[in-house]
Amino acid sequence: MIDQFGREINYARISVTDRCNLRCRYCMPECGVKKIPHAEILSLEEILRVAEIFSRLGIKKIRLTGGEPLLRKNLPSLIRRLKNLAGIEQVTLTTNGVLLKNLAPELIAAGLDGVNLSLDTLDEKIFADLTRRNFLGKVLEGLQSLDKNLSLKINCVPLRGVNDDEILKIAASAKDNPVKVRFIELMPIGCAWESGLKGIPTAEIFSTLEKSFGELVPVRQKNSLQGPAKYFRPKNFVGEIGFIDALEHKFCGSCNRIRLTAEGFLKTCLSFDTGLDVKNLLRSGVDDEELAEKIRDAIYHKPKEHFFEGATKFQMYQIGG
Ligand code: GTP
Ligand code: 5AD
Ligand code: SF4
Repeated sequence: MIDQFGREINYARISVTDRCNLRCRYCMPECGVKKIPHAEILSLEEILRVAEIFSRLGIKKIRLTGGEPLLRKNLPSLIRRLKNLAGIEQVTLTTNGVLLKNLAPELIAAGLDGVNLSLDTLDEKIFADLTRRNFLGKVLEGLQSLDKNLSLKINCVPLRGVNDDEILKIAASAKDNPVKVRFIELMPIGCAWESGLKGIPTAEIFSTLEKSFGELVPVRQKNSLQGPAKYFRPKNFVGEIGFIDALEHKFCGSCNRIRLTAEGFLKTCLSFDTGLDVKNLLRSGVDDEELAEKIRDAIYHKPKEHFFEGATKFQMYQIGG
């Protein structure tokens, strides 16, 4: 469907849990977070009901997020059922990769179309310090276990004084492999705002990469259900390098997405709390027609552009990125 600013909304990010097995400093407080009782999280049946309504309203792609989505039981079954919805063309997953090795075969068999894997560092000590967990080995095993035919993106948030001297090495993963390595500007949301961590602007990463790999040539994407990243290919690279310059509003004008939190709130912009309490409606016995109308109205009023610095009460692990 088309929102009040003429944008086509065809992409939903659905967070299936707010729990995580890492504690990334820019995302989660060290002590973890108050556990939301299971009953407060949307059931898989409820997620499917909302997804079916989304698909009727023109959503074509669903990205499953968390917290860490692989912590949710029966995820392969959810993927299979989402893929069976008429109108849903792609179901993808954003994961930290810790549990990927064991689950990859089932996820692929369920029809998963792609994986975005968070990997800020290849150094065990830095990983343990940044995520407060010693799981780099598991993440790398998970990465290795992925079917080479599955679309793979690696997410790296460059952080001053933390992983800045690994940028070239991480980018080089795309040299001989058909992966998209993306560098994301740190957004000042929740913990990131208080963590003291400093992101590195896209322009600086871009120029570091060009000095080493030569010209970065823009690559037009064939897939129209894309997120905010812009992609480039250095000469002799099989894969691509992407940038998500999140701090400006460069991509808000073409934003195509809505979000559903694990607790069932339809968030129409990453940085604002405008939207709709879908769970409340679901559990008060609303029928599909009325629910669809309310969701349509919320999407229509999606905000024009994001604004960080305290505009949302949600933390990143609740929003799912
Ligand atoms: P695909 O194009 O489907 O691969 O999606 P994606 O790159 O948006 O997904 P992913 O979950 O890997 O997110 C990568 C980064 O982009 C995360 O840091 C997200 O928070 C960020 N991001 C995703 N959507 C938005 C958005 O609408 N606005 C901003 N500012 N950042 C976003
Ligand atoms: N700014 C930018 N990216 C973030 N992520 C989590 N928090 C932030 C933030 N404050 C990224 C993770 C993961 C993706 C889902 O979001 O690194 O790759
Ligand atoms: Fe977990 Fe992702 Fe947040 Fe790290 S960034 S704590 S992996 S939800």
